[in-house]
Amino acid sequence: MDPLEKNSSRPSSKDYLVTHGPQRKTLEKITLRPLSMKDLDDVAQIDFSLLGKQRKEYWESKLERTVETGVPSLAAEIDGKVIGFILGKASSWEYGIPENVGLIDTIGVAKEWQGKGISHLLFKEMYSMLKKVGIDTIYVFVDRKQWDLNKFFDRMGFVRGDMINLELKI
Ligand SMILES: CC(C)(COP(=O)(O)OP(=O)(O)OC[C@H]1O[C@@H](n2cnc3c(N)ncnc32)[C@H](O)[C@@H]1OP(=O)(O)O)[C@@H](O)C(=O)NCCC(=O)NCCS
Repeated sequence: MDPLEKNSSRPSSKDYLVTHGPQRKTLEKITLRPLSMKDLDDVAQIDFSLLGKQRKEYWESKLERTVETGVPSLAAEIDGKVIGFILGKASSWEYGIPENVGLIDTIGVAKEWQGKGISHLLFKEMYSMLKKVGIDTIYVFVDRKQWDLNKFFDRMGFVRGDMINLELKI
């Protein structure tokens, strides 16, 4: 049995409409559903198109571990093709992070589908799943130079938290 089947916070797939095209007059159906290993190629391709790095092995190990994260990660799909995703996690007391804290690990939307509210839909769904499993605070770690992500999380209501990142070059 898929370990996610045991997870009561697992969403069934949900459909939404977004507008796009000239003057945003075309309506497109977006489906949000749990991300699975079958999505590896699509996710790695979106990541490559956004960051210019081939990281299939990295994504393979990340997708393998999504079953241990307390909440399912999500794919946004149009006409059977993944165009965006969000990976989240309900914490289990690691790195001093208490159990009531959830983490957004990664979010990405293919360039041609950005600016249409798809990340907002993905985030809203992740937010409600995290809330359902008892999370009351969500952390996200963002490179301060990555303007799009900073703006996005600002719009989602995130503010600077109490954690700071320390680093030592070796
Ligand atoms: C940041 C990112 C996730 C936003 O996705 P998106 O689907 O375009 O975002 P949405 O359309 O849902 O926007 C939601 C809100 O964030 C704001 N926002 C999103 N991207 C923005 C940007 N680049 N500049 C300013 N505001 C932005 C929108 O204006 C919107 O605000 P509103 O609700 O007030 O209108 C997307 O640009 C992306 O995937 N960037 C690359 C991320 C990355 O490198 N991930 C790691 C590798 S996969």
